[in-house]
Amino acid sequence: MEKIAIAPMLDWTDKNYRYFMRQISQHTTLYTEMIVADAIIHGERDKLLSFSSEEHPLVLQLGGSDPTKLSHAAKVAKEYGYKEINLNCGCPSDKVQSGSFGACLMQEANLVADCIKSLQDATGENITVKHRIGLDRNEDYKQVYDFIDTVHNKGGCNKFIVHARNAILQGLSPKQNREIPPLRYDIVYQLKTDFPHLDIMINGGIKTIDDINTHLSHVDSVMLGREAYYNPYLFAHVDNLYYNKNNPVKTRHEIASSMIPYLENIVKSGGKLHHTTRHMIGLYHGCKRAKLWRQVLTTKIIQSNSLDEYKELVDYMVE
Ligand SMILES: Cc1cc2nc3c(=O)[nH]c(=O)nc-3n(C[C@H](O)[C@H](O)[C@H](O)COP(=O)(O)O)c2cc1C
Repeated sequence: MEKIAIAPMLDWTDKNYRYFMRQISQHTTLYTEMIVADAIIHGERDKLLSFSSEEHPLVLQLGGSDPTKLSHAAKVAKEYGYKEINLNCGCPSDKVQSGSFGACLMQEANLVADCIKSLQDATGENITVKHRIGLDRNEDYKQVYDFIDTVHNKGGCNKFIVHARNAILQGLSPKQNREIPPLRYDIVYQLKTDFPHLDIMINGGIKTIDDINTHLSHVDSVMLGREAYYNPYLFAHVDNLYYNKNNPVKTRHEIASSMIPYLENIVKSGGKLHHTTRHMIGLYHGCKRAKLWRQVLTTKIIQSNSLDEYKELVDYMVE
């Protein structure tokens, strides 16, 4: 049973980041960045959708609001073997709103239900939704209750990932929208009480194992975003704590070393180490040599693109 997930994050949760996180936790569910249905239909499919088998379990997040286009994109994506498809109904950026999807879809529960049905018909699989607890300054619980009620009853969606903040559609940037509207976890807990048969995953501002444990006593599962990026080593204990494993917990040094073959392949194929190492900057978060690790990854490795330089750094980082 899925307990812990790392949130979809544009520009962050790409395949390089996901491969890195897999060195830390084998069982945490990972998400792609949001991929717009139109991009899959018209763009470079392999580039957008391919991933390595180590990344499983991996969920594809789609953006869009046209049931026909979404089902077309989902049929294409199905060939790649994702664990699940998730529909983004929580992103407040202007660009996304002008395409009439993301958080503004919370005002269109019937359309979301149609999208879910169409995605389910296309794939034969369960589709999930990620959304907020409300829009703009409206703090009425009924808004999110009705949204879930409709998307579940009309669309057949059984799993909801709830970012425990409102989305402010006008006047705030996406970044501000992740910080300014207050977190209201009680709303998400109430949803689980009112829809006990649905799978409710909570998201927003979750930073520690203690936080995770508190939330798991109210809802089914927990999704972390920024903390998973800034402090990836937090996930070192996740498999043992939440997936009944009894594996030796890897050290940071072991994790950094385990990336060498992957990085070697990148260099051999003419790629840039930095495209992967930029996601590893937080590995030593809170440790004595964290600053050095960060500095070398963000300067020397970019300039030299040298695997030897990376190996030297890793040797120096022995704890
Ligand atoms: C850089 C960045 C990019 C994001 N991109 C997406 C996205 O593509 N789709 C999505 O549903 N949410 C996106 N989010 C929101 C996160 O999935 C998550 O809901 C939010 O960060 C709150 O969780 P947190 O407090 O644990 O970070 C993004 C967040 C960040 C920081």
